[in-house]
Order: sequence, then structure tokens, then C-alpha cells
Amino acid sequence: MSKIKNASMLAAGLIVMMSSSVFAADGAATYTAKGCGSCHGADAKTPIMPLYPKIAGQSKEYIAQQMKDIKSGARNNGQTAAMKGIMAGVSEEEIAVLAEYISGLK
Ligand code: HEC
Repeated sequence: MSKIKNASMLAAGLIVMMSSSVFAADGAATYTAKGCGSCHGADAKTPIMPLYPKIAGQSKEYIAQQMKDIKSGARNNGQTAAMKGIMAGVSEEEIAVLAEYISGLK
């Protein structure tokens, strides 16, 4: 009985580990594919202009919300227009994957 329990816990652990690493790989690939790094830097903390934000390591909730607000136009600062065009091609799912990835960067 306890053997079966251990085996199923191990299997569950493996699935969690595998899915989180797939998620991280997706995040990195999406970040590159969408060209985020061309403004925010490949490491998300070396922006090409002093006025552009360092985004690495902020909370994933905040990152996702800012991306949604930039996409919808709810956020519209002086610099937001630079990023808005990109967001038209970024889906809700991709926002979630990107926010998870960027928040995990140090
Ligand atoms: C053309 C340049 C450019 C590209 C490409 C770009 N951004 Fe941005 N991003 C900006 C600028 C500029 C701001 C600051 C906007 C403002 O001043 O309101 C910003 C803001 C942000 C913020 C909010 C940061 C904060 O501290 O509030 C996040 C998160 C973000 N970008 C993520 C991304 C992601 C993820 C991508 C790729 C899908 C991306 N950006 C692509 C220029 C860009």
C-alpha cells in the first residue's frame, strides 16, 4: 500500500517538474520570438534606453497586468506606445507564460 502511494507521489512530482521546465523553456522562447529583448534586453534588465523599464524579477501578477493594460490601452504613458504594437500579437496565454518566465529572472 505504501509502495503504491510512494510511486504515485513520485510520478506526480515528476509531472510537476517536467511541466515547470517546459513552461520555463516556453517563456524564454516566447520572450525571444516576440522580440521583447530588443527593447528590454535579452536578460530583461538591460533596456536599450534609460526610459525603458527593467522588468526581470517583478511579480508575475504585476507583469501580466501591465502587459494587459498596455495591450488594451488602459496604460498609456509617454513610452507605452513603443510597446503597444508588439502586444497586438501577444495572446492571453502568452502573457501568462511570459509573466511567469520574467518574474523568475533575477
Ligand atoms: C519597442 C520596444 C518594446 C518592446 C518590443 C517590448 N516592450 Fe515592454 N515596454 C517598453 C516600454 C517603453 C515600456 C514602458 C512603457 C511606459 O512608459 O508606460 C514597457 C513596459 C513593459 C512592462 C511594464 C514594466 C513596469 O515596470 O511597469 C512589461 C512587463 C513589459 N514591458 C514587458 C514586455 C514583454 C514581455 C515584451 C515582449 C512581448 C515587451 N515588453 C516588448 C518597450 C518595449
